[in-house]
Amino acid sequence: MAATVSEILLDWYDRHARDLPWRAPPGTPAPEPYRVWLSEVMLQQTTVAAVKLYFAAFTERWPTVEALAAAPEEDVMAAWAGLGYYSRARNLVKCARAVVELGSFPSSEKDLRQLPGLGEYTTAAVAAIAFGQRAVVVDANVERVVARLFAIDEPLPRARKAIRAKADTITPDERAGDFAQAMMDLGSSICTARDPKCLLCPLAADCEGRKNGDPSRLPVKGPKKAKPLRKGRAWWTERDGAVWLVRRERTGMLGGMRALPDDRWSARGDGQGGPDGEPLGLVRHGFTHFDLELSVHRHEAPIGDGEWWPLAKLDEAGLPTLFAKAARLALA
Ligand code: ADE
Repeated sequence: MAATVSEILLDWYDRHARDLPWRAPPGTPAPEPYRVWLSEVMLQQTTVAAVKLYFAAFTERWPTVEALAAAPEEDVMAAWAGLGYYSRARNLVKCARAVVELGSFPSSEKDLRQLPGLGEYTTAAVAAIAFGQRAVVVDANVERVVARLFAIDEPLPRARKAIRAKADTITPDERAGDFAQAMMDLGSSICTARDPKCLLCPLAADCEGRKNGDPSRLPVKGPKKAKPLRKGRAWWTERDGAVWLVRRERTGMLGGMRALPDDRWSARGDGQGGPDGEPLGLVRHGFTHFDLELSVHRHEAPIGDGEWWPLAKLDEAGLPTLFAKAARLALA
């Protein structure tokens, strides 16, 4: 009988799996749920290379879910600085506390899904990778592999339903976690977005997209919405080797993070609020729904409620990337 897609792929994974700090080698007992959950939350919207550093720092500082649950939220937010999408960090603490309350991570998709911050993807990934449950795990890599394997022509995001249904048909009952990670590895190393290396692909013979000619055109993307540009101002006030930092309001963009005082660009967006000061330059930063052009101004007197933060320890302030860029500009 011909080998199935999952058999071929698992066989490939046994030989080619990436060695990543949150993984167990193929076919060996699953890693601790805490490490699986933490890595999967970090890996959403963030590259493996960036996550490796943060994962090492987090697991050294908070080696267990109990340790993370006991950490002050501000410490976790500051340690998360630079990874972006900060609601993930806030949910991380909430979720750790909920798990400690329960006694341990639940193992079914249904119960995992009740935890703060666990959406469809993370739920399926943790169920499959940490608990060996048969779960259909679809991230952007898997989406691409499946769209090509089955030549799904429908544009994203509409195609997601069909992609998921097809992914379900090839997900095995056993080793679902290895299978999910094999799909991710295939997507990131061989079935890449622009330049698929079909000659190296273990699934080439089964791939409808390849049979039809040009797999790199799949998945078809819907028209990209242009992102609006907002403008904002931030103020750099320096005194005796320290800079004035505020803590942002808990709700809203970059909520609860340390920052330079600014003109509340997330609500305003015209870059005209507050005092002028001496202009130091512009910083550009892309958020999910808009791009921001932040003009940074030197200002003599501190603005807002805040604290003097020593410049020598600025990298410990946990500034989100936008304000880290502004600080680099001011210090240049
Ligand atoms: N991206 C998301 N989860 C991943 C995992 N477990 N391994 C590699 N890349 C991933």
